[in-house]
Amino acid sequence: MTTEQTAQEIEVPAYLAHPEVTQPDPVVPVAAPLDVTPDASTPGQEIAGALDQASLDSLFRTARTPMAWSEAPVSEETLHALYDMVKLAPTSGNCSPGRFVFLASRDSRERLRPALSAGNVERAMSAAVTVIVAQDPLFFENLPRLYPSEEARSWFAADHGLAEETAFRNATLQGGYLILAARALGLDVAPMSGFDNQMVDDIFLAGSGWRSNFLVNLGYGTGVQAQPRAPRLTFDEACMLL
Ligand SMILES: Cc1cc2nc3c(=O)[nH]c(=O)nc-3n(C[C@H](O)[C@H](O)[C@H](O)COP(=O)(O)O)c2cc1C
Repeated sequence: MTTEQTAQEIEVPAYLAHPEVTQPDPVVPVAAPLDVTPDASTPGQEIAGALDQASLDSLFRTARTPMAWSEAPVSEETLHALYDMVKLAPTSGNCSPGRFVFLASRDSRERLRPALSAGNVERAMSAAVTVIVAQDPLFFENLPRLYPSEEARSWFAADHGLAEETAFRNATLQGGYLILAARALGLDVAPMSGFDNQMVDDIFLAGSGWRSNFLVNLGYGTGVQAQPRAPRLTFDEACMLL
């Protein structure tokens, strides 16, 4: 991605780009579910300081993206606890560009409905809370407070492309932190990029200057998965050890 590109300019499949286009049926995975049985090389058994096995399962190994939600609500207190963890995870120069709009009321969710891809409507509308993960392109105005040791505000104020790139990178990271923090609090999480960003910005973010990045649905899943987990790339496929 060049410094001039934004989330809106990245080429995406049609069903992700337009809410009226139905998402195709998911590809049925051919591989068996991941083997999550701890073995001798499983972190936590031999790595000092690693989380215990149950925590690793909850965060990664047995956690799944839920297909359906139970009726259990998510309290405002839980949302505060969630943000209070997310805000502590690292961003470059502590720039903290992520912004989070919690759609917790029925009314706010109804306002979201027209922006959602057809295949995402049911799962978003039935979640306890949908979070709009956004970024503030003017995040650098807070840098004199957040990063007082340097003249960091001026780096970004003078370079719009650098500011855009930094906001997008770090807000996306903060959305990822939100996913894992939610799992750490016992919530289930269903992220979504299949929606009309411009429509969401117009409906919810007008006047704030914030720009939507992706959605994260929160709640307590039913635990019923229609499909086994899809395969992942192996270490040798996805990593270089130099
Ligand atoms: C940024 C992001 C966007 C996603 N967008 C969608 C979406 O629009 N619709 C959807 O059904 N799932 C969406 N997903 C869910 C992923 O497909 C799912 O989390 C992934 O396949 C892993 O599934 P698993 O947790 O069951 O292994 C998205 C996930 C992420 C992280």
